[in-house]
Amino acid sequence: MTSTLSYRGHEAPSNSDEYSPKPEKPWSIIRPVDYLLREQRLLFIFIGIAIASMFFILQPGFFASNVDENARFVPDQHHRVVYETPLSRVAQYHSGSMVNSGAKVPLGLKRKSLRVVVTGGAGFVGSHLVDRLMARGDSVIVVDNFFTGRKENVLHHFGNPRFELIRHDVVEPLLLEVDQIYHLACPASPVHYKHNPVKTIKTNVVGTLNMLGLAKRVGARFLLTSTSEVYGDPLEHPQTEAYWGNVNPIGVRSCYDEGKRTAETLTMDYHRGANVEVRIARIFNTYGPRMCLDDGRVVSNFVAQALRKEPLTVYGDGKQTRSFQYVSDLVEGLMRLMEGEHVGPFNLGNPGEFTMLELAQVVKETIDPNAKIEFRPNTEDDPHKRKPDITKAKDLLGWQPKVSLRKGLPLMVEDFRRRVFGDEKDGSIKNKHTSLNDS
Ligand SMILES: NC(=O)c1ccc[n+]([C@@H]2O[C@H](COP(=O)([O-])OP(=O)(O)OC[C@H]3O[C@@H](n4cnc5c(N)ncnc54)[C@H](O)[C@@H]3O)[C@@H](O)[C@H]2O)c1
Repeated sequence: MTSTLSYRGHEAPSNSDEYSPKPEKPWSIIRPVDYLLREQRLLFIFIGIAIASMFFILQPGFFASNVDENARFVPDQHHRVVYETPLSRVAQYHSGSMVNSGAKVPLGLKRKSLRVVVTGGAGFVGSHLVDRLMARGDSVIVVDNFFTGRKENVLHHFGNPRFELIRHDVVEPLLLEVDQIYHLACPASPVHYKHNPVKTIKTNVVGTLNMLGLAKRVGARFLLTSTSEVYGDPLEHPQTEAYWGNVNPIGVRSCYDEGKRTAETLTMDYHRGANVEVRIARIFNTYGPRMCLDDGRVVSNFVAQALRKEPLTVYGDGKQTRSFQYVSDLVEGLMRLMEGEHVGPFNLGNPGEFTMLELAQVVKETIDPNAKIEFRPNTEDDPHKRKPDITKAKDLLGWQPKVSLRKGLPLMVEDFRRRVFGDEKDGSIKNKHTSLNDS
């Protein structure tokens, strides 16, 4: 047995078993094709490619080479879970058209709507802004303490799942997950902001700080509605954004003027120091439906007085000038500013300039040609001239007002007529007193 094995290992090969390699066949395309076609191999390859493609298309963020630790899966407006990165949110901001950035929403779904906070959203300007944002498909949270705002201004959105209303004073901190913050909360008319000047300053300073802190914390873009009052009684006419103003720091209007100037400073410091994306609008006199009745602002005063057959009260000699912009023009400007690339500040106003007497004349022509004018002593620190230079907004935002005073005024008169004589009369007056007492 042993000898047999050892013999085999050293067996001399016979001539007949001599190794001869197979002759190489010439390469031919037919062989691999033939291989693929056999046993339905091709079909399985196609199914594999299709499955892999679906996976990549539906979950692109999953394969990002540099996985972002701030990325998250979030429910969209259809309650489906989508993958969202801070970058995809920024891309949305910058797209202007607010089209989705791709990585966020599975194929075939509509863009994810933005979550927007509007502080002061139950007020005059805020409620018109809310209407536009809701119409665009965004989810809107109104934060308001109803000092001068009214639930009636946003009543038509109640019941819409994209709309929320929070009674909250912005001087207290608030945490909300949002993409954009329009910060409007602040009484705007002299009657209201002088009513409790310390509260007005607190709203402008502490309220703005709180909202900037929120913007920083959640990475939201922040827009401040500042005012032409930052120019005070201007020594330059018309006013450009480069003008630093002529403001009395200790006057009765200072709570508002200096409050807004400080709010601008805070906004820029959060931008420079904490990289918060900010926008600043300097709003000039605006009018339109839903303004408070009798709030001391000249257009609402004249309209309400003319409707009630009372004399139109003109302060001083009536030669001081103002420019008046219709609210839809302002809202368009605010939204362009928020979606655009420029921080500002931007003047948003109508450069058409009217003296108080000219305005009274337009109101008379629109409502009651027989209305009388009554002169009263001028109020302290009332600016003599106010007219925006809007070159910057025209050039960088592509914005300019479209509605003239003679076109806009009748729209406001219609709303005021309904509120002065109609069902809302009691509600609006009650609301006004409640607001004043609440502050
Ligand atoms: N309308 C104008 O002509 C004009 C001009 C310049 C600037 N602005 C600015 O635009 C913004 C809106 O003005 P508006 O005309 O709609 O005034 P408005 O008084 O009608 O609206 C202000 C809103 O802010 C709310 N509010 C006030 N204090 C608050 C607080 N502490 N917390 C929460 N909510 C608060 C009010 O209840 C109201 O709903 C203001 O910031 C104002 O300074 C307006």
